[in-house]
Amino acid sequence: MTQNLVATWKAARDRLREAGVDTPAYDARLLLEAGAGVARADILTDPYRVLSAAQRDAVERLIVRREAREPVSHILGRKHFWTFELRVTPDVLAPRPETETLVLWALERVGAGGGLRIADLGAGSGAIALAVASERPQAEVVAVDVSPAALAVAQANAEACGLGARITFLEDDWGASLPGGSFDLVLSNPPYVRTGALSLLEPEVARYEPRLALDGGADGLAAYRRLLPQIARLLRPGGAFAVEIGQGQAEAVWALADEQGLAPEGVRADLAGIDRVVFGRRGARN
Ligand SMILES: C[S@@+](CC[C@H](N)C(=O)[O-])C[C@H]1O[C@@H](n2cnc3c(N)ncnc32)[C@H](O)[C@@H]1O
Repeated sequence: MTQNLVATWKAARDRLREAGVDTPAYDARLLLEAGAGVARADILTDPYRVLSAAQRDAVERLIVRREAREPVSHILGRKHFWTFELRVTPDVLAPRPETETLVLWALERVGAGGGLRIADLGAGSGAIALAVASERPQAEVVAVDVSPAALAVAQANAEACGLGARITFLEDDWGASLPGGSFDLVLSNPPYVRTGALSLLEPEVARYEPRLALDGGADGLAAYRRLLPQIARLLRPGGAFAVEIGQGQAEAVWALADEQGLAPEGVRADLAGIDRVVFGRRGARN
């Protein structure tokens, strides 16, 4: 059979469907574009263009990886978040669209003026820190992660986005070494999957994403128990916080924040209608 663009795309799509990939047509197109070095417009306007042997081999290598359920973001080494195309590696969680709920909340909370200090605890690829830093040019942003490999990715992303000078990167345990009372806003998307549920996740997540970014302990709340006291300590009086949560965790995280003397004020749902963010401020008891 002629190995032209459209035939290669269809064969790849069928193989990915067979492998259980839930968006086989879309993924096949992205991998064909990347492997063959063609643009989407080429596939549409010149579908019978014949691929060279080198192009076929390159596409084949990518399709084999996707058949093994490696995520497209890891295969391509990039993932879209906010206005950026971020680099991702096996050391970081590929940023998720629902995390933009947290970013949107932060931007509503923090006006464009004023030199505020903002912390992103558990920065991973840097997604949250970068989005907030880009939208609030006056703010000073600190991005913290316990994983040096993740921080290196975040730093490379900041440089690539022209935000390297705007963000301080710190290898640390939930900001424990930062001075107390020094932040106007603290944001975090911690690991929140129950350990027992990790093996039930899609292979793309369970096999390829870092456990450190996913594992929330026996009840999924272990990271919040360590993180929320730090948030309470780091915020200046009146400072605000927002944490991302997993489905069904709003009540428990609200209670944990309250226990730490934070004053939770609300829950924000993502575009799918799932409660995704618990937010509030430093309470009177702190
Ligand atoms: C769910 S990922 C979030 C990554 C990124 N902020 C995002 O939203 O895409 C959680 C991050 O927390 C980091 N992390 C886990 N334990 C930590 C700790 N004790 N202190 C700081 N960061 C930690 C992980 O390395 C990981 O990058």
